[in-house]
Amino acid sequence: LEITYFQHKEHGWINTFLIMVNCLVAQKHFVGRPTDVIISSLPKSGTIWLKDLVCKITGRGNPDHKNDLLSPHQKVPFLELQVYVSEDHVLDIDSFPSPRLLSTHIPYPSLPASLINSGCPIVYIWRDPKAIFVSDWHFFNKIIPSETGTNVPFLTIDEKFDSFCQGYSISGPYWDHVLGYWNAKKNGANILLIKYEDLMADPVVHLKTLAEFLKFPFTEEEEKDNVIQDIITTCSFQKVKDSKMYESGVTKLLHVDIQNTMFLREGKTNDWENYLTPKMAERLDLITIQRFADTDLI
Ligand code: PPS
Repeated sequence: LEITYFQHKEHGWINTFLIMVNCLVAQKHFVGRPTDVIISSLPKSGTIWLKDLVCKITGRGNPDHKNDLLSPHQKVPFLELQVYVSEDHVLDIDSFPSPRLLSTHIPYPSLPASLINSGCPIVYIWRDPKAIFVSDWHFFNKIIPSETGTNVPFLTIDEKFDSFCQGYSISGPYWDHVLGYWNAKKNGANILLIKYEDLMADPVVHLKTLAEFLKFPFTEEEEKDNVIQDIITTCSFQKVKDSKMYESGVTKLLHVDIQNTMFLREGKTNDWENYLTPKMAERLDLITIQRFADTDLI
């Protein structure tokens, strides 16, 4: 992790040093519970969508979980961006109702040992790197430099793409992040991997698997009452985009206030086609085929 972040520092990403420090604070202080639920991902993989789904699955019948004016990022805070903001600014997660829903973009090998040792379920969402790259490109162009006032250099899409292919992104190289969780699962860790594109293609199947994994399975009666379909519809891109919480809400990640609207852009699987040339797509696909060659990820 340290090497990854120093590479980023050299590359000029101002926030990454802070995030590295926060990872270390999380490693030092986080006390995991077997009942915790961790949502993990690379940024722009569909984290907020998965958080919403997990909140709805685990919150069935519990009015405490139904505060729908809060965004999923507020209900399921990131360890390194919202919980351990600094040594003396820590969100009180001890009082969270059980199961505590928490999230992270930290690569698997750098997760707090206590989290790994607790054996709690980790749901990892991942996505086609072409889509992640394009989503990230839009997101950072909006927040940098307008909200951070930073010295982050402006990169053209070609420069940013080249650096992404070389592994420079905020949580480290795409392929290593995905493989870290995939390998951990292969070695017995309590992890469910869900691909954004698969969730989009067949939400019912994946929602059932997710609910079972979290030990909140849907009953036959719930299935008959269309509870699964209701959750899918409530968490659908357009429904969320039209909701009050998104119209005006703000989520603070580290020191940056981010409009909730910024976490929803297109919500599609193929929007990357509008930004990447066939040559760029081919380059990224080739790396992915090579890096995932011995896995069932492709
Ligand atoms: S972040 O910043 O890491 O929390 O971003 P993350 O939530 O991982 O990813 C943002 C992308 O996910 C899309 N999104 C959704 N897709 C489908 N359904 C729902 N409900 C949904 N919510 C968010 C969001 O639009 C971003 O993708 P792009 O391609 O930019 O639209």
